[in-house]
Amino acid sequence: MNLILLGPPGAGKGTQSELIASKYGIVQLSTGEMLREAVKAGTPIGQQAKALIEAGKLVPDEMVVGIISERIDQPDCENGFILDGFPRTLGQASALEKLLDEKGKTLDAVIELRVDDEAMVERITGRYSCAKCGAGYHDKHKQPEVSGVCDKCGSTQFTRRADDNEETVRARLLAYYRSTAPLIGYYFAKDRYNFVDGMADIDEVAKQIEAILG
Ligand code: AP5
Ligand code: MG
Repeated sequence: MNLILLGPPGAGKGTQSELIASKYGIVQLSTGEMLREAVKAGTPIGQQAKALIEAGKLVPDEMVVGIISERIDQPDCENGFILDGFPRTLGQASALEKLLDEKGKTLDAVIELRVDDEAMVERITGRYSCAKCGAGYHDKHKQPEVSGVCDKCGSTQFTRRADDNEETVRARLLAYYRSTAPLIGYYFAKDRYNFVDGMADIDEVAKQIEAILG
């Protein structure tokens, strides 16, 4: 099963991808995560991407298309994958279609997480993650079971993203409406489009997604 999760910054793409990946035994592919890893490692891609990410702008299409094309050739993607944050432009969507075609893979569903933009600022500024395993948390909405200890790996080190401040969030929202929102119409026309209420509780959103996936 190969899926796309669509939605503005903070919509819950990462949160829901983690849940779907473990429930269906498929892989979460977040271009944002991959780019942040590249920034951390100081690779040529990371060096080019750093300033764009911190300004809330999109990186060039060729960069992410190349990353995704290589990644879905890995054996762990054979069972399926969830694209979290890709495609983000019409150019990326048509490149994806071409490369899936070439690799003999199909796109089963596109699911939009529909949310209220104002709430996204609060979600993003409250977000943090485990510095060791990357598990995601929120100051109010998703705290670890034992305060200060990661549920998944037991680490006590947490981190916040460099682009998670109010000013950058608004730039990211603008990039979403300018470049990514047209994908809703694109996938509707391709008969792959679905949506869920991304303002519901995390578990309720997961149930709505499962109802679509069957
Ligand atoms: P990326 O990492 O993809 O960031 P984003 O799209 O801005 O989305 P976020 O990761 O901020 O939000 P999310 O939807 O994953 O929400 P989450 O589940 O964490 O991209 C970062 C940057 O990389 C881009 O700006 C761009 O520069 C570059 N980039 C990446 N891909 C690219 C591409 N394809 N092309 C070009 N450039 C690219 O949830 C948010 C918070 O809310 C969490 O704390 C969570 O616990 C909480 N939460 C989640 N769901 C709920 C709920 N239902 N109720 C209450 N709280 C909730
Ligand atoms: Mg994310």
